[in-house]
Amino acid sequence: MSTFKAPKGTYDLIPPYSAKYLAVRDAISGPLRLSGYGYVETPGFEDVDLFARGVGESTDIVTKEMYTLTTKGGANLALRPEGTASVLRAALEANLHKAGGLPVKLWYSGSYYRYERPQKGRYRHFSQVGAEAIGAEDPALDAELIILADQAYRTLGLRNFRILLNSLGDKECRPVYREALQAFLRGLDLDEETVRRAEINPLRVLDDKRAEVQKQLVGAPMLRDYLCDACKAYHEEVRALITAAGVAFEDDEKLVRGLDYYTRTTFEFVHDGLGSQSAVGGGGRYDGLSEMIGGPALPSVGWALGVDRTVLALEAEGVELDIPPATSVFAVALGEAKPVLFGLVTELRKAGVAADISYGGKGLKGAMKDANRSGARFAIVAGDRDLAEGVVQLKDMESGEQGPVAVADVVGVLRTKLA
Ligand code: HAM
Repeated sequence: MSTFKAPKGTYDLIPPYSAKYLAVRDAISGPLRLSGYGYVETPGFEDVDLFARGVGESTDIVTKEMYTLTTKGGANLALRPEGTASVLRAALEANLHKAGGLPVKLWYSGSYYRYERPQKGRYRHFSQVGAEAIGAEDPALDAELIILADQAYRTLGLRNFRILLNSLGDKECRPVYREALQAFLRGLDLDEETVRRAEINPLRVLDDKRAEVQKQLVGAPMLRDYLCDACKAYHEEVRALITAAGVAFEDDEKLVRGLDYYTRTTFEFVHDGLGSQSAVGGGGRYDGLSEMIGGPALPSVGWALGVDRTVLALEAEGVELDIPPATSVFAVALGEAKPVLFGLVTELRKAGVAADISYGGKGLKGAMKDANRSGARFAIVAGDRDLAEGVVQLKDMESGEQGPVAVADVVGVLRTKLA
């Protein structure tokens, strides 16, 4: 072991476990790639104000959880705590909203950083796959995203997740509700920090998990009773489209989410096998964010699914992903056979066959151990005598059967057998 360890709240992904993460990222991005979403990649850090303005000055993410730094040149940067503000910034900077039709549909995958109290499912460095549909106000777009996430989770084999759905209203109706809620909260017996929160972001108080707060919230005004007709109609359409697609969801009028940019549709994917960190993904509409970061009006919607928590959810359900072994063919070279087998391995790889070879001048026993460990379906074994006869021994690692194959035929034979 070295003197150093992965920093607190982080962990390394190492083989073979890391293959699960790749499979999860593929499964989540697959449906997006089939639905018109283009891949976008943004820097790991941004101007700190992008998040302060975008995610919100009153959120935990901005006030407590950002990794910030000042460069030698004096720029104030933050490691990205989430992807939405960055992706929208990138789309605006590249004028994607002017380039073609709207919405601009983008997906991304990467690392995010939040200085949180680490626990199972909550890390300081974690990974998300996300999708953003920028520049269109259409209930079908909200529905599309929810359906695609559901499809991704089902393809992975997840069953015990639930979709919670809510509408947070818009700039017309939410302020009226906000005031009503604040008036109600002022009459309660709350601690100092919660009183402060009630003044800055009263909706977040509804989300408070503490029993003593929840008890007092009985009878609080509910947003559903304040939604304007346009928001109500929009939300009903989203619900109808998701229902028609056969995707089950639960109305959760207390769902607020921890980022300030949301308007109208908000949703969360929760998994019941994960304890307190049960949200495997979440998202919603953010119709005002573009203007908040200096862009034109571009109503948008998106989500991000947590890769770490999705892997934990798969484990909680006992789902084994069908991950093919990294190596299909393993070459064991004895005597002077190394150059020939090395050449065959190179040809196999070019032909798209996952192939590896024993390194380090091992004898038959050690090299066969490597072959077994690799999980390869076939081994090709050759020594001087085989090569003198122009063959290698092809061994089926499952049945143990072995027989000679002409060197010139090895690639073709293996391709056929593995097809
Ligand atoms: P979020 O709910 O903050 O939303 O994060 C989305 C998902 O990322 C969570 O449901 C969770 O699975 C994962 N996640 C968040 N924090 C951690 C952590 N500390 N450790 C492990 N996993 C974590 C957003 O980030 C929004 N940008 C989503 C969005 C996209 N809204 C609209 N477009």
